[in-house]
Amino acid sequence: MERGYHVAIVGATGAVGLELLSILEERKFPVVQLSLLASKRSAGRTLCIAGRELPVRELTEQAFEGMDFALFSVSSSISKTFGPIAARAGALVIDDSSAFRMDPDVPLVVTEVNPHALHHHRGIIAHPNCSTIPLVMVLKPLHLRARVQRVVVATYQSVSGAGARAVEELEQQTRALVAGEPPNVSVFPQQIAFNCLPHIDAFGELGYTGEEWKMVRETQKILEDDSIRMSITTVRVPVFRGHSEAVNIETERKVSAQEVRHLLSAAPGVAVIDEPEKSQYPMPITAAGRDEVFVGRIRDDPSHARAINLWLVSDNLRKGAALNMVQIMELLCAEHQR
Ligand SMILES: NC(=O)c1ccc[n+]([C@@H]2O[C@H](COP(=O)([O-])OP(=O)(O)OC[C@H]3O[C@@H](n4cnc5c(N)ncnc54)[C@H](OP(=O)(O)O)[C@@H]3O)[C@@H](O)[C@H]2O)c1
Repeated sequence: MERGYHVAIVGATGAVGLELLSILEERKFPVVQLSLLASKRSAGRTLCIAGRELPVRELTEQAFEGMDFALFSVSSSISKTFGPIAARAGALVIDDSSAFRMDPDVPLVVTEVNPHALHHHRGIIAHPNCSTIPLVMVLKPLHLRARVQRVVVATYQSVSGAGARAVEELEQQTRALVAGEPPNVSVFPQQIAFNCLPHIDAFGELGYTGEEWKMVRETQKILEDDSIRMSITTVRVPVFRGHSEAVNIETERKVSAQEVRHLLSAAPGVAVIDEPEKSQYPMPITAAGRDEVFVGRIRDDPSHARAINLWLVSDNLRKGAALNMVQIMELLCAEHQR
């Protein structure tokens, strides 16, 4: 008989937390007890899963007793405080903040790319940034075939990547501007409606943002190759759901656009839509609500003999967050049952 698991969701009321609830239900993950945790503000609210209303409780140090898994989707400072408490209480922590990603003792896992890293966990497993995940899913098969040497990326990231309040801000600003009223700017540093912001996370080393450095360091860690050179520009766009990336990839050995199309068509979790002459290419509305990373516009780079260009899109709340977390749990449970 299949075992059921005791699962706590920390940040259950957030953009990722709510997606975790639907994915657990959709994939019929065997849960016998689900504990929904958030801030004091949400204590007493209820959330619906599988037709049942469950109460949200305030996150406390005692919340993890008897839990098999604790899925953390909160700020990195809350994860840093409560992640180790949950792990000491015996729960296996899967954290999607940046708190533990670069800790050498913490595996950073994308289930299709480096599932082997799960074997070395010590109670905490980190989940990468929502723009790193689709990028490494596309780079991995190319790295195996031709060794990726250099990657240049520009992202087009949706507002849901910045949480539930950011989604409300785009909605409100759009309504206000259409009505001829001034927009209220509070979550983003500038107006996001009808605009693009080349600014995600704080500016730091060499003028790059934290988000840009995260993509570099996380990609190198997941692909286990620090020699891959990367140059990233992250941009927030007025799209509700789905992150897009324009990617230039330089390899050691030449791979043609046609070979890349074949390789990516066979890659797990990746779907190729590449018939530009019929206006068929991936868009955020293609990826929203879907599990796959979609790739199109695959072209040889006319400026470099060993480089190609492509365009990818994925749902940041699903493969970029909640889905990968649930897939990590599924892999661990399958290994446990073997
Ligand atoms: N959004 C994405 O696409 C995405 C993708 C990958 C990773 N992530 C990461 O996931 C984490 C959450 O992101 P999100 O987009 O879901 O943010 P969000 O919509 O703002 O949700 C934040 C969650 O944290 C909870 N929280 C805030 N303060 C708390 C406290 N003091 N104690 C306990 N819970 C508290 C909130 O509860 P209340 O409702 O009670 O305030 C809410 O449930 C972040 O670290 C983010 O970087 C997000």
